[in-house]
Amino acid sequence: MTERVSSKDEVRAVVASARREGKTVGFVPTMGALHEGHLSLVRAASSRCDVVVASIFVNPTQFSAGEDFELYPRCEDADAKLLAADGVDLVWTPSVETMYAADAQVAVDPGPLAARWEGQVRPGHFAGAATIVAKLLNVVRPDLAFFGEKDYQQLVLVRRLVLDLDLGVGIVGCPIVRDPDGLALSSRNAYLTPEQRAAGLALPAALWAVASEVMLGERGGRSLEAAMRKRVSEVAGADIVLDYAAIVDPVTLEQVVSVGTTARAIIAGRVGRTRLIDNIEIKTPPGG
Ligand code: PAJ
Repeated sequence: MTERVSSKDEVRAVVASARREGKTVGFVPTMGALHEGHLSLVRAASSRCDVVVASIFVNPTQFSAGEDFELYPRCEDADAKLLAADGVDLVWTPSVETMYAADAQVAVDPGPLAARWEGQVRPGHFAGAATIVAKLLNVVRPDLAFFGEKDYQQLVLVRRLVLDLDLGVGIVGCPIVRDPDGLALSSRNAYLTPEQRAAGLALPAALWAVASEVMLGERGGRSLEAAMRKRVSEVAGADIVLDYAAIVDPVTLEQVVSVGTTARAIIAGRVGRTRLIDNIEIKTPPGG
C-alpha cells in the first residue's frame, strides 16, 4: 500500500515505524513529471532497501529568475500513481510553505564545485538544489538516497554535501536512461518540437563521438572537446547553442588535459528556449 502525505511529521512517523521494525529506508527525491529515468531510481531503491520514500517537490530556490519554475510540468496525481505502481511505500508531496518558512534565512553554500559548468550558466541553481537536498535528507533520514547520473554535477555535489555536512546518508548514483533515439530522458523534453528534438540528438551524438575517439587512442582533452563541438555542428548546425562541451575529472569536475583511466564528458546547450544536458563516462580501454 502506498501512502501519500504532505507534512514533515507524517514522513517522520512512517520512517520511525519502519525503523522500529528494523527496516532500511531508501529515498528518491524528484521534482515530478516522472519518466523512466526517475522510475529507474525507484527500482534501484526498491532492490536495495526495505522501504522506499519518494518526494515530489518543484523547488523554487533552484530556479533562477526567468527560468521555467512556473511552467515546469506538474502532474502530481499521475506521478503518485506511477510511484505506487513501482512499489513506493511513501510519496511525499510537500508544499512550498512546508519546505520554506517565510522568514527562512539560512541556506547551504555549495562551494566551488557549484561555480562551474551548470552553475556558471544558472547562477544560484546549486545553492537552491543543495539546500533542498539537505532539508529533504534531514527530514527523511534515509539509509540510502538515489540520484541520476543524468545530472552529473548535481550528483557529485550531493556526494560532497553529505561528506562536508556529515549527513550520514549513502548516495547511490544511477545510470542515465535514454529514449531509443539516444536522447536522455528529461521532464523538459516535453517542451521540444520534433525538429528541436532532432537538434537535441546532437548532444548524445557528440558524447558517443568522444567515446569512440578515446577508443581509437585520442587522449587530449582539448582535441576531444573539439571533436564534440564538430559533431554538434554536423548534427544540429545553428539549431543548438552550446553552453559548454568539456572533458572533466569525474570528482573535481576540473577540465583534464589528458584522459587518464576515467573522465567524464559533459555537454549542455539550448534548443530554442529549452536547455538540455547530458554526459557520459569516458573509459580508456584496458592497457590503453
Ligand atoms: P529531477 O529533475 O526531477 O530529477 C530527479 C532525479 O531523477 C535526479 O536524481 C535526476 O538526476 C534523475 N534523473 C532525471 N532524468 C534521468 C534520466 N534520464 N536517467 C536517470 N536519472 C534521471 O534533480 C532534481 O529533480 C532536483 O534537483 C532534486 C534533486 C529533486 C532537488 O530539487
